[in-house]
Amino acid sequence: MTTNILVTGGAGYIGTHTCIALIESGHTVVVADNLSNSKRESIEKIKRITNKEFPFYEIDISNKQAVETIFKNHRIDGVIHFAGLKAVGESVEKPSMYYENNLVSTLVLANSCLKFGINRFVFSSSATVYGENEVPFVETMDLLPSTNPYGETKAMCERILTDIAKANPSFSVSLLRYFNPIGAHESGLIGEVPNGIPNNLMPYITQVAKGMREYLSIFGNDYPTIDGTGVRDYIHVMDLAEGHVAAINFVTEGVHIYNLGTGQGTSVLQLVKAFEEANGVTIRYEIVDRRPGDIASCYANVYKARRELCWIAKRDVVTMCKDAWRFEKNYQHQVV
Ligand code: NAD
Ligand code: WQD
Repeated sequence: MTTNILVTGGAGYIGTHTCIALIESGHTVVVADNLSNSKRESIEKIKRITNKEFPFYEIDISNKQAVETIFKNHRIDGVIHFAGLKAVGESVEKPSMYYENNLVSTLVLANSCLKFGINRFVFSSSATVYGENEVPFVETMDLLPSTNPYGETKAMCERILTDIAKANPSFSVSLLRYFNPIGAHESGLIGEVPNGIPNNLMPYITQVAKGMREYLSIFGNDYPTIDGTGVRDYIHVMDLAEGHVAAINFVTEGVHIYNLGTGQGTSVLQLVKAFEEANGVTIRYEIVDRRPGDIASCYANVYKARRELCWIAKRDVVTMCKDAWRFEKNYQHQVV
């Protein structure tokens, strides 16, 4: 069934890919983003890839009036709420900005949904809410405190939405806990564009491959993992996007939590090697001290999403590396 979905943060990395997956599976979208970490050209690129038009609102989701205007102008069947600030280090430096932006936007959006009778809500959460639990992480685990305000905003938003759903039985909330999204759309037109020096591993690798950075610093090789470097569950961003389509299609009342990952752990050195082999390039690296706040291993138990959403991640690490590199090669970074 075709539904009309409001995608907040739809100009960003995961939002753009999800808009494509939604449109390609027959849904229509309305996109809202304040462009604080993205560009308007991403919206044009979604239209180019899908060959479809859709409304775009440059608004802040914390602005109640602006959000309500969208609900007055369009019949919206559900929302996918990506809008949020996501840089872990920045959240330590500017906690109040993170709490305000991520919590207020979620509250305003959820309250507006209740007011307008929109009862499908999908929220971008993160594996960071598990903290240093034992791997693989499973949805039934007790959450452990995060080492940073960003992670706390995700745990708090999960809590807020859970309480709202409990008090409003017709409200359906899906809390999607993403593992480590990497890669790009196969067109090479859209992908991840970090602001300044990349914090995350894959964008750093692609920038080293491009010659923008001299070498990759690998944060520690003394973890209790296969080769001493950190292990993560990397998931192709298009698989993640398709997970959102599955979640929006599956509507039952109440709160539903799903891990979106592959279930496979890959170490930093394994990812570097896979990237080199997939793309025929060499990545220089040096081992440096551990990064504060990092954990040794993080990967998902993915059975719940498979069972209930009939969704699994299909793309392998080689495809993730090829697609990330195709996008990076095409993309012209602005010189600041
Ligand atoms: P992104 O920064 O590329 O996209 C987020 C978008 O939200 C941006 O376009 C930004 O301009 C917009 N935005 C931020 N605050 C807003 C506000 N108040 N009003 C309107 N627009 C606003 O990030 P992403 O990687 O696409 O992440 C999307 C969501 O997924 C975020 O909530 C993030 O915390 C979450 N998440 C991301 C990852 C990851 O590794 N990328 C992992 C787990 C969870
Ligand atoms: C992966 C591995 C690093 C960079 C973060 C957030 C999480 C979520 C996803 C938003 C680790 C190592 C990294 C580098 C390195 N984001 N590394 N050199 O830390 O798992 O998760 O992004 O929701 O909340 O915390 O991802 O890509 O930063 O790191 O050695 O230059 O690569 O130590 O083992 P992380 P990451």
